[in-house]
Amino acid sequence: MTDAPMPRVTVLGTGYLGATHAVCMAELGFDVLALDVDEAKVAALSAGELPFFEPELPELLRKTLATGRLRFTTSYAEVADFGDVHFVCVGTPQKSGEFAADLSYVNAAFSSLAPLLQRPCLVVGKSTVPAGTAAGLAGLLSLAPAGAGVRLAWNPEFLREGYAVQDTLEPDRLVFGVADDASEQTLRAVYAPLIAAGVPVVVTDFATAELVKVAANAFLATKISFINAMAEVCEATGADVKALSGALSYDTRIGGRFLNAGIGFGGGCLPKDIRAFMARAGELGVDQALSFLREVDAINLRRRDRAIDLARELTEGTFVDTRVAVLGAAFKPNSDDIRDSPALDVASRLHHQGASVQVYDPQAMDNARRRYPHLSYADSALDAAGDADVVLMLTEWVEFRELDPAVLGAVVAQKRILDGRNALDPARWRNAGWHYRALGRP
Ligand code: UGA
Repeated sequence: MTDAPMPRVTVLGTGYLGATHAVCMAELGFDVLALDVDEAKVAALSAGELPFFEPELPELLRKTLATGRLRFTTSYAEVADFGDVHFVCVGTPQKSGEFAADLSYVNAAFSSLAPLLQRPCLVVGKSTVPAGTAAGLAGLLSLAPAGAGVRLAWNPEFLREGYAVQDTLEPDRLVFGVADDASEQTLRAVYAPLIAAGVPVVVTDFATAELVKVAANAFLATKISFINAMAEVCEATGADVKALSGALSYDTRIGGRFLNAGIGFGGGCLPKDIRAFMARAGELGVDQALSFLREVDAINLRRRDRAIDLARELTEGTFVDTRVAVLGAAFKPNSDDIRDSPALDVASRLHHQGASVQVYDPQAMDNARRRYPHLSYADSALDAAGDADVVLMLTEWVEFRELDPAVLGAVVAQKRILDGRNALDPARWRNAGWHYRALGRP
């Protein structure tokens, strides 16, 4: 340990990643100034209100605000003046109508910050970007008034929504993409408590650091689509994908995580990241290397079609004049994020096929209502299921896993359920008189 003062930290962008990073950096003892261009968001965060649902984060936000170590601003000048280390955490969504990533927020953050940097500092990219992006941004930073004193590092983030605090404070690994030793030392100082706790550090170049992130998400998406492809084969053979994945999971080379078959992956990361990765591979002339990701995407989307087919089988061939209860709107449990939510995609398509759809989700109702105003929303799972001809469980919140088939059975019109996440016990539901269907299981 040195006696050097702790670096002052800024965070650009206060979405899921940035807000979590800012709060966790303050929790680690740093003075943190976080920026967002959205004034309403800055006002809410400054008042201790998190604009999205993330377990543990609201308490930690209020705790760190109370220490005086965490502040929020909309001013780039203030950020540039304040920070020794600037973390860029803005989003990189999919471009409309294309597979490629939209880098406009990253470019805007760097071009707004660079001309204001008057003294030596480290700018650290955390956003998920195509390989080669950092090299281009380094050129942009060289225009800063502080010149060579402004360095760049790429430090991808692997946090999962729903576990963001835990994943930030106890990550599986830290990846430092750096071009010089000084940048590595600064990052080591920032992450000193985590490194002291035994978190492994991988020090590498920019391109590798960028690739670690997209490769990790591509691998996870592939693992999910692999088991969903097996589910398709199970359906053709009468086999049970749940038993299959359970048996596979004992092989420690395979492992059981991300091997849950169902209606597949959604969210703001895996779908757009595999598409951006394919787009980048095309630009690099290695599109064949990633052509399998096209199949990963296709398998994933086919599961949603299959869920609709199974629902139709349950309702005897038609959705017209049919009441459908959809349990789940978030793309996964413990989140209010509905970006590319398989549940809402299925719900919306059923609506367009004539069903009367009632949706309930423990946290994502406001987001769902805003984005899918044509659907109807209920106040509880039981409410949604009232008089339903079929119940679709599409996001495996604990609340839905623990539903009592007898209690639900008392309010529905027909005891028919599709378990879109293989999260319910088929025997329990069938014994209670339900017609139970799932993906990849007899
Ligand atoms: C994902 C990665 O897991 C994080 O490591 C990464 O940091 C993050 O993207 C990101 O790039 O920012 P996240 O999008 O929060 O995290 O969600 P996941 O937990 O990966 O789940 C993604 C989707 O896969 C969900 O829709 C989930 O329901 C589905 N899934 C997950 C399955 O269908 N089966 C599984 O076995 C696991």
